[in-house]
Amino acid sequence: MNTVYFDHNSTTALKPEVLQAMLPWLSQTAGNATSRHIYGRNVRDAVEAARKEIAECVGVQASQVVFTSGGTEANNFAVKGITTNLTPTQILVSAIEHPCVSRPAQSLAWHEWKVQTLKVNTQGVIDLADAEQKLNTHTGLVSAMLANNETGAIQPIAELAALTKAKGALLHTDAVQAFGKLEVDFGALGVNAMTISSHKIGGPVGVGALILDKRVDIAPLLHGGGQERGLRSGTENVAGIVGFAKACKLAVATLKMRSMAQTKCRDQLETGLQNLNAVIFGQQAERLPNTSFFAIPNIEGETLVTALDKAGYAVASGSACSSDSTEPSHVLLAMGIEPDLARSAVRVSLGESNSEAEVQGFLKALQQEVKRLKGLNAVAA
Ligand SMILES: Cc1ncc(COP(=O)(O)O)c(C=O)c1O
Repeated sequence: MNTVYFDHNSTTALKPEVLQAMLPWLSQTAGNATSRHIYGRNVRDAVEAARKEIAECVGVQASQVVFTSGGTEANNFAVKGITTNLTPTQILVSAIEHPCVSRPAQSLAWHEWKVQTLKVNTQGVIDLADAEQKLNTHTGLVSAMLANNETGAIQPIAELAALTKAKGALLHTDAVQAFGKLEVDFGALGVNAMTISSHKIGGPVGVGALILDKRVDIAPLLHGGGQERGLRSGTENVAGIVGFAKACKLAVATLKMRSMAQTKCRDQLETGLQNLNAVIFGQQAERLPNTSFFAIPNIEGETLVTALDKAGYAVASGSACSSDSTEPSHVLLAMGIEPDLARSAVRVSLGESNSEAEVQGFLKALQQEVKRLKGLNAVAA
């Protein structure tokens, strides 16, 4: 039995075209971008061409792109690197951030920063009135994601940027989930720093970037050979960077087509879910077209995920990065969802490979599993 993959927000398969673009850099004679010889120059040219392509995809200049080992490093770099060069004041972080933003932010409390959380409404969208109230002239940095990995809710980043700018603070956005699923333009968002990651868009794992506004003064996390203009030392992952650029170009080129197809599949899925009396989280919010986060009351999310895996469907119970924990999703708790209902949460995140027939099959399997699990619950009660 082939398991249908419905967990594309966790990671999505490397695209064949991306692999083709990477292969020469994995198999040919090695070169280090810092070397002066022909091999070194070839690597340097490939890295710079990739930087230019990625910059064009998000509407910035090549010099604004700093390569990292992925979204986690880019988010840590933004939070720690920007605050290092500011006098400790206040940092605001939304309540629904990925731990690779919220944890580095919390760690700043040791360095005399006041760490405050921005509230979200019941649909999982940042409450701008709360943000306006918390922002003041002592705010150094605000970090808020562009789209949430669990609910898919798209955040009002351009509006937040205007509020942030008015107080003289800097804004970082984690666009790891949004990039490749929405049009993302750094200038139009009005942010000062933005994180993107390769493996969420069909590129290889282990590469990402922090896009920086030219005015941002940021301290490196990694010190060493001075690569990336001294901002991120370490020998460049040339195959990864070339693959990332190829994946970016493909994602931007196919965005509209994918978005339409996925919206259709997601709506089909949610109509079926409503017939099963599921609660769909953040359904009234503007969302990513591929993401549906729901709960069947009184059935544990973990239990349902295991049952669906056996039935041939790979889905997630909340964010993958915390799936080894039984704590209810912090995103749902921030939305005011009761912990018991939050523990029932299951996420379906669609990708390019998924079809309406697969969604139909999933709904059938879900109906059967819900019936079986409710029967077991009734016997146990
Ligand atoms: C919103 C968000 N930010 C950051 C990350 C981390 O990115 P990476 O896996 O490239 O380190 C993830 C991964 O799940 C994510 O969903």
